[in-house]
Amino acid sequence: MTTQNPRPDLTFEPMHADDLQQVLAIENQCFEDPWSTLYFRVSLKHPRSYEYFYVVRHERTVVGYIIFCILHEEAQILNIAVSPVCQRQGIGKYLLASALEMIQAAGGREVSLEVDVSNLPAQYLYRQFGFRICGIRKNYYGRYKDAYVLRKGVEADAT
Ligand SMILES: CC(C)(COP(=O)(O)OP(=O)(O)OC[C@H]1O[C@@H](n2cnc3c(N)ncnc32)[C@H](O)[C@@H]1OP(=O)(O)O)[C@@H](O)C(=O)NCCC(=O)NCCS
Repeated sequence: MTTQNPRPDLTFEPMHADDLQQVLAIENQCFEDPWSTLYFRVSLKHPRSYEYFYVVRHERTVVGYIIFCILHEEAQILNIAVSPVCQRQGIGKYLLASALEMIQAAGGREVSLEVDVSNLPAQYLYRQFGFRICGIRKNYYGRYKDAYVLRKGVEADAT
């Protein structure tokens, strides 16, 4: 899979503590039940070897981020969000393609994630990348808010 950078002025790079304010602003705009400041702060201060926090940056501005983990051959996309003012410009695709490339390079063979059954934009994005529904988690996001479990295989790198 080739990472599609939609614009040469965008970069995909590790998230730093300095990015936190911008990341949290996006997180709070994008989700009804956002991850806590504490979770982000502790995760960045005490990184776990299997967790990856990456941002897409335009100059000094964070426009989106993705968080995923790789445990042996199994990987999971834990969070992805693009600043509302920057959505529909290919940044979500760039984040996901870049993460999948890293997962493949690290030997990941299966990637899974949960998505709200009512979150159609995200589902369309995942479908484009070959994710398919393999289960449902009842009340995953709260009462009557179910999640689909999506999965996709990652082909081994031929090189
Ligand atoms: C899901 C999300 C990350 C997509 O980011 P994005 O930068 O807008 O996505 P892209 O511009 O790369 O679009 C990729 C594809 O997603 C789908 N898509 C994205 N937004 C969409 C919308 N509003 N309506 C329909 N499809 C949409 C389309 O299939 C699109 O491909 P296309 O442009 O070829 O039609 C973004 O909408 C977001 O941050 N949402 C809030 C947070 C969230 O729901 N995260 C997912 C949690 S599981």
